[in-house]
Amino acid sequence: MLEIEPLDLEDAAALRAYADVRIAASPGSSRERIIASLRETNPDFGEVIRLIARRDGEGVGIASAGLPGGVNARLAIGPITVHPDHLRQGIGTALLERLLPELRVRGRDTLESWGVVKGSAGEHWAVARGFHVAASRVVQLLTVADVDPVSWELDVPAGYRLERWIGATPEHLLVSVAATRQSIHDAPATESAVRAPEWTPEVVRAEEAEARAGGVEHRVVVAVEEATGLVVALTDVPLHPGDSAHTHWGSTMVRPAHRGHGLGRVVKAHMLRWLVADRPALERVDTGTDASNSHMIRVNEQLGFVTDREVVVVSRTF
Ligand SMILES: CC(C)(COP(=O)(O)OP(=O)(O)OC[C@H]1O[C@@H](n2cnc3c(N)ncnc32)[C@H](O)[C@@H]1OP(=O)(O)O)[C@@H](O)C(=O)NCCC(=O)NCCS
Repeated sequence: MLEIEPLDLEDAAALRAYADVRIAASPGSSRERIIASLRETNPDFGEVIRLIARRDGEGVGIASAGLPGGVNARLAIGPITVHPDHLRQGIGTALLERLLPELRVRGRDTLESWGVVKGSAGEHWAVARGFHVAASRVVQLLTVADVDPVSWELDVPAGYRLERWIGATPEHLLVSVAATRQSIHDAPATESAVRAPEWTPEVVRAEEAEARAGGVEHRVVVAVEEATGLVVALTDVPLHPGDSAHTHWGSTMVRPAHRGHGLGRVVKAHMLRWLVADRPALERVDTGTDASNSHMIRVNEQLGFVTDREVVVVSRTF
């Protein structure tokens, strides 16, 4: 009989079953890392709902849905994953049906999953279950050992200088950091329900506080226009507590009047040099970009990122 329950972090057998599904779906994952990550708080989400589906004690499927706050407080984000040996038996559907009421009681009305491989069973299943494809994205991967660090030694364009920090934005740069972050609204429009906040100095400080509370080492590199002292380009990498060998890039943005001078490439290159110097254990960095964002994809390629897969964002309002 199929049993679906919320994952109890105190239940060692349930944790093992949960990790079994993750490992079967992504061979090579480490059991210890998976289990440790379940106990880590993720500052992107106030809460994460997790379900485990078992048949005769064996893990056959899992669901994980993170609940963001702020402008995204009606959303839940995360995948449903079925053990590859148990596909097409209705387990994915049963997990979805068990998950939706959990989300509804928490005030959510939209579920999205961001990493569904384009053309995969996951995309077909999601469409069959009432999701629509809201965006197409490219996941690019940088393997540190494969890249000649010389490709990160770029001159800063004349008239600009770079600055960097971990955590709190220096007070004198706060207003222009918020203004630069607003440029994320120029990213290609998608049908995803995820909204970027209206960036103000207060929102920047609030996000910094959340990252700090979640144990995130938030690294930021900016380009400052020397004539005005204002930040005009920014990139960030949030290093989560478990990110020693592998991390995900945050975001990158350049203010409209300063595009086309290579600032995006320069701030990212500097970030890579800084990360690799301080974090010798770092092996891989991945980054996701809208498939239509050809500038960002090309910049990443110039820095040594290789396109790993095309994914879709699937979205369902229920
Ligand atoms: C997506 C996933 C969870 C589906 O799990 P599942 O238990 O096999 O799905 P179900 O048995 O509930 O499938 C229900 C319906 O979805 C559709 N579907 C599922 N897999 C499909 C496939 N490979 N091709 C076409 N349609 C498919 C069918 O309409 C199916 O009904 P049917 O079997 O009666 O034809 C599973 O393929 C998986 O774990 N994929 C990897 C993770 C992923 O991409 N998740 C994204 C969804 S959030």
